[in-house]
Amino acid sequence: MNVAKNNLISALSEGEIAEIEAEITHLPDRKSAAIDALKIVQRHRGWISDESLSAIAQLLRVSNAELDGIATFYNLIYRQPVGEEVVLFCDSVSCWIMDGDKMCAAVKARLNIDYGETTADNKYTLLPVTCLGACDHAPVMMVGDTLHSDLTADKVDAVFK
Ligand code: FES
Repeated sequence: MNVAKNNLISALSEGEIAEIEAEITHLPDRKSAAIDALKIVQRHRGWISDESLSAIAQLLRVSNAELDGIATFYNLIYRQPVGEEVVLFCDSVSCWIMDGDKMCAAVKARLNIDYGETTADNKYTLLPVTCLGACDHAPVMMVGDTLHSDLTADKVDAVFK
């Protein structure tokens, strides 16, 4: 095993590398796996550190800057540590019309954090997100993998009880 491979393995697990390589086999080139690779590592680690980003870039044979550009553009890739669950609150127009701003204020008050912050117990990180595709049930938010729709103050309280 060469030095480059050893460096990769120290930053990414064998399992992560295997999952990324499996994705690459379905794609026309290694670079096309960028978002999938970032998602795989984020699923294992919760976020993408500079070290992880560098290792993924090396594995995909792209520059760090190129991969960082992709990671930054895709707002569900976290480049900073996040809590155990990420709360994505929709701040797009349909939710806003349906009192989304009031429900968001209720979430912030309930968690005692603002956008971009994590609760003191590291349980939740709150982030704004553009339309979650559930406008007919506005206002909505995602908590982890769960969509919460038709939000009311009572529903917000129940979610974070
Ligand atoms: Fe909020 Fe579409 S605007 S889900």
